[in-house]
Amino acid sequence: MRVVMIGTGYVGLVSGACFADFGHHVTCIDNNEDKIERLNRGEIPIYEPGLDDLVAANAGAGRLVFTTDPKKVVGEADVVFIAVGTPTRRGSGHADLRFVHAVAEELAPLLKGYTVIVTKSTVPVGTGDEVEQIIRKHAPKARFDVASNPEFLREGAAINDFKRPDRVVVGTESEKAAEQLRALYRPLFLNETPIVVTSRRTAELIKYASNAFLAVKIGFINEIADLCDKVGADVQQVARGIGLDKRIGGKFLHAGPGYGGSCFPKDTLALSKTARDYDAPVTIVDTVVRSNNRRKRSMVDRIVAACGGSVKDKTIAVLGLTFKPNTDDMRESPSLAIVPGLQKLGATIRAYDPEGMEEARTLLKKVAYCQDAYDCLDGADAAVIITEWDQFRALDLKRVAGLLKDKVFVDLRNIYTREEVQGTGLKYHSVGRPG
Ligand code: UGA
Repeated sequence: MRVVMIGTGYVGLVSGACFADFGHHVTCIDNNEDKIERLNRGEIPIYEPGLDDLVAANAGAGRLVFTTDPKKVVGEADVVFIAVGTPTRRGSGHADLRFVHAVAEELAPLLKGYTVIVTKSTVPVGTGDEVEQIIRKHAPKARFDVASNPEFLREGAAINDFKRPDRVVVGTESEKAAEQLRALYRPLFLNETPIVVTSRRTAELIKYASNAFLAVKIGFINEIADLCDKVGADVQQVARGIGLDKRIGGKFLHAGPGYGGSCFPKDTLALSKTARDYDAPVTIVDTVVRSNNRRKRSMVDRIVAACGGSVKDKTIAVLGLTFKPNTDDMRESPSLAIVPGLQKLGATIRAYDPEGMEEARTLLKKVAYCQDAYDCLDGADAAVIITEWDQFRALDLKRVAGLLKDKVFVDLRNIYTREEVQGTGLKYHSVGRPG
C-alpha cells in the first residue's frame, strides 16, 4: 500500500518507519526543510533505540522517502496519516489543533481517488468530524473517509510497541476505511493482535482514557508510597501484592518522582478540559493532575530532609534528567522542578544524563554538566537518581560512597535494594520503602 505520513515528529517518524518495515511504501512529509534534509542524510532528530537502523534499512530499500512536498504523493496514497503536534493551548488545557486543521486544508485539494485520512495525533473527541468538514469544504468532490487510529507507543520502546502492540484501535463508521486499515496492519493481524474497530469518537476517547488511566495508576501508587513511608511498609511489595490481581495488573505501579513526558501531562489536561466542556467532569483525573504536580515539587523537600534539613552551600549530583530512560526528551521531566527547587535553596548542581544534556542545557541553567556518572558524583555532598537509566543500575556503590562527601544517596526510582547498599557506607534514601 502507499502511505503518506504528515509530520515527522516522534509518532510520525516511528510509525512511518515501522509501516515501511511492514513492506508498505511510505512517504514522510514535514514542512521543516532542515529536518527533511537531515533525514535524507540519515540523521535521526530524536533519540529512540533502533530507529536509526530501521530508517536506514527501509530508506535503503526505497520504501521510506522523506520530502517537504505533498503535491504528488498525497494523490497517489491509499492512506494519509496526520501525525502533527497537538500541544496544550496556552492557558486553557485544550489541545491546540491548529496544525491538524492546517494539514486537512492543505491536503484536501491534492486528493485523487478514494483515500483514507487517518488522525494519528492525539486529538480531542470530535476532531475527526472537524477534519472531515474541512476536507469536504475545500474538496467537495473528493472521495475519502476520515478515521482515527491512536498510537500507544512509549518513548524508548516505541518500535517494539508498534510491532508488538496489545491492540490496534481503528475508529471509523466506514467499512471500506476499516478494511483499508486492516490491510495496512495485516502483519500484526497475522500475529493475532486484536484490532478493535469502533466509532471514530470512541477511538478518539480510548486514547485519552488509556493515558489518563495509566496516569491515575501512577498517581495512586505514588500516594501509597508516601503512606508506606509513614507506616513503615514497602511500596514495591504493595505494588506486587496488588498487581498480581489480574483485575489490577502489575504495570505502571512503580513509585517515583511523578510522571512527566509529552503525553500524560498534556493528555490528562486535555481530557479534563473536554470533560468539563461536556459537563461530565473527570474529577479523578483532575485530582491526579494536581497530585502529580505537587509530587514533583515535593521531591525537593525529600532531598532536603535526606541532607539533614538544608542544602544550602551543598553540592548535589543529579543522575538522570530526562522524564524517563532511553530518550532525550526533557518535557515535563521531574528534573525541571527538582533542579531549580534545589538551586533556590542554595544548592549547587552537577548533573549527568546519557542523552538529555543537550536539551537540558537550554532548560536548566547554572548546572555543571558532567562526563559520566562518576565524574558527576566526584566532590558532591549528596547524589540523587532522578531517571532510571540502565547505566545507573549497576554503579560501584563503594566507589560512589568514596566520592560523596556526606555520603547521602537519594534513589527516587527505587533501583537499588537496601541489601545492595548495606555495608557501602552510603546513607540510602528511597521512595516508599522502610528505612
Ligand atoms: C505514554 C504511554 O505509556 C503510551 O502508551 C502512549 O502512547 C504515549 O504516552 C503517548 O501518548 O504518546 P510515554 O510518555 O512515552 O508513553 O512514557 P511512559 O513509559 O508511559 O512513562 C510516562 C511517565 O510515567 C514517565 O515519566 C515515567 O517515569 C512515569 N512512570 C511510568 C512512573 O512514574 N511509574 C510507572 O510505573 C510508569
